[in-house]
Amino acid sequence: MYPQHIAIIMDGNGRWAKIRNQNRTEGHKEGAKVVRGITEWCLKQKIPYLTLYAFSTENWKRSQMEVDFLMKLLKKYLQSEKRIYLENNIRFRAIGDLGAFDKDLQDAILQLEQLTQNHSALTQILALNYGSQDELSRTFLRILNAMPDSALSSLKTYSPQEMKKMIESHLDTHSIPDVDMLIRTGGEKRISNFMLWQASYAELFFTSTLWPDFTIQEIDEMLQDFLSRQRKFGGV
Ligand code: IPE
Ligand code: IPE
Ligand code: MG
Repeated sequence: MYPQHIAIIMDGNGRWAKIRNQNRTEGHKEGAKVVRGITEWCLKQKIPYLTLYAFSTENWKRSQMEVDFLMKLLKKYLQSEKRIYLENNIRFRAIGDLGAFDKDLQDAILQLEQLTQNHSALTQILALNYGSQDELSRTFLRILNAMPDSALSSLKTYSPQEMKKMIESHLDTHSIPDVDMLIRTGGEKRISNFMLWQASYAELFFTSTLWPDFTIQEIDEMLQDFLSRQRKFGGV
């Protein structure tokens, strides 16, 4: 079946810059430019969901200078891409704990989400201050907080299937289908706290290409590879 959801761990910006004797921030700038082409490719391929891991809950460990730069870059990105979302019927969504960002950035994200909420050609999801463990923790808290105290004990009678539905409907990714293709650029073969629940049955693609060098041609080849794989979901 054709992929409904592609998720990408955009890694390797810092190394891209280092090879060129440039500051890590130059790699981030170059990496941000790659996003539009990949998004347009998804539109053309009629892939309805694209999630991009842009900032993890662990990325705050980086230097203040780098974190500040990434926040500024994100603001600029939201401004410059607005036109693309509007012209191409693209819905924008963010996942992650946005409460950690400054008010301006939070407002810009919410405004863009609202402005594009009825767009239907493609949903582009940015994972911002996102970590799977944090998402699951917030999900469980959301479930508990959505219920009056008197109803809480009813949770204990849920079947595992009912609980699974309950969890899925409270994840940041609620109403978004599970990940079919999980791509990581930059050569590392790890998941780094990304979509642990949603990528349970994703087909995995690791490439040593650094994110700023990632091309349409390479993702096209990955798609062909995906289409040739036999997915079994535990069956035979
Ligand atoms: C990924 O590239 C972008 C973010 C995490 C924001 P990196 O910045 O991790 O690049 P490398 O892994 O250091 O090369
Ligand atoms: C994962 O990349 C996070 C993003 C791409 C936003 P990292 O570079 O932060 O991951 P690690 O530290 O190599 O696991
Ligand atoms: Mg990295």
